[in-house]
Amino acid sequence: MKIAVFGAGYVGLVTGACFADLGHDVVVRDIVEQRIDALRRGEVPIHEEGLVELIDRNRERLSFTTEVAEAVEGAEVVYVAVGTPPTYSGDADLSAVWTVVDELPVSDDRIVLAMKSTVPVGTGRTVRLRLDDRGLANVGYVSNPEFTAEGTAVRDFMHPDRIVIGAFEDGDGDVVERLHEGIDAPVIRADVASAEMIKLAANAALVTRISFINEIANVCEATGADVLKVAEGIGLDRRIGPSFLRAGIGFGGSCFPKDSLALKQLAANSGYNFQLLNAVIEVNELQKRRVVGKLERKLGPLRGKKIALLGLAFKPGTDDMREAPSLVLAGRLHAEGAEVSAWDPVADGSVMLDGVRIADSALEALDGADAAVLVTEWPELRDLDWSAAGSRMRNRLLVDGRNMLDPDELRALGFEYEGIGRA
Ligand code: UGA
Repeated sequence: MKIAVFGAGYVGLVTGACFADLGHDVVVRDIVEQRIDALRRGEVPIHEEGLVELIDRNRERLSFTTEVAEAVEGAEVVYVAVGTPPTYSGDADLSAVWTVVDELPVSDDRIVLAMKSTVPVGTGRTVRLRLDDRGLANVGYVSNPEFTAEGTAVRDFMHPDRIVIGAFEDGDGDVVERLHEGIDAPVIRADVASAEMIKLAANAALVTRISFINEIANVCEATGADVLKVAEGIGLDRRIGPSFLRAGIGFGGSCFPKDSLALKQLAANSGYNFQLLNAVIEVNELQKRRVVGKLERKLGPLRGKKIALLGLAFKPGTDDMREAPSLVLAGRLHAEGAEVSAWDPVADGSVMLDGVRIADSALEALDGADAAVLVTEWPELRDLDWSAAGSRMRNRLLVDGRNMLDPDELRALGFEYEGIGRA
């Protein structure tokens, strides 16, 4: 089938490349000319495992353009994969979605507009009304949310736990279901509002688990239990399951913080106070800041102290620093008067971190440090020569914000080791 994808960000590029790999003809359209030029030259502007190879392998079926007409010419399905960032009020900013809806040319051909961007429940209904207002009854609407995580997006797309398709007309849902032929996964057919809610509820359930285990970790710290053991012990209960029980310095990224806020606001806008989600968000904010308290307890006032942040991306395997705990930490440490140095193997900290010394290596970041904070669990940090690291530091204090390292090994090297919720 012929598909147009609007938006050449993480979601749009992965969606486009994967559909091309499934044998469809795909045109990806974006408004940023430099991005499209780079993609045409074969340069992929984001760091995503396997994406470069996938795009390369499917060159014949995958093209890039800035022109709406070129993208939608002959397309049976038009995917919307544009950004929906939070506005000042916490609601999702849908202006890029509306632009796509308004740019669709008038035609008699039957096409399906498929929503990949994460949008509030009710968006599909509003888009339907706007399409009808424009006389575009030929355009069907389907909600087909994405559940891919950065770093594993290609694998998640090709081997999903489920495919969710919400349609006003069954025939439009059938078209989108056919697009996924070749992917072996259960297909959930739903009404549009329920499909929209599945996306938001799935992310809300995941962040609730993270804040839950972080709170358990905080109580472990106060009572002498070890959260790693606790997570293992509860995770073996089949009703609970083992995933998303890694305690740490909080969740970040372009999705979880934004989507939980958007669901909270969606509920509030309709007069409902989503108390549990409010608490989940607050716990996460506090969790990012707790590290500063740990450092203060060990070092006293942080003014003039040198603190090294190891890892800046919101998780390993990506260069994405959006809503990363490193940003809050760097800001808090700066506010306390600490001198902050930082290193990340991929993320470019110089763009988002003011007043932070960006080092070329982890060891360089540790030079003369009074403490190090492991912020992102990069494999490079597990494999670091911690003995050499210790000798570069003025004071061997390590806060392992991801519980990645072995406390006994670090202590044997003379480190004072602090994890999150470790005995
Ligand atoms: C997340 C979801 O996992 C995807 O299913 C979803 O499609 C995506 O959001 C989205 O809505 O687009 P992503 O943000 O890429 O994907 O990253 P995750 O791997 O889920 O991690 C998110 C954050 O949670 C990271 O900061 C990570 O460190 C943190 N996390 C995760 C924990 O602190 N503990 C855990 O046990 C798991």
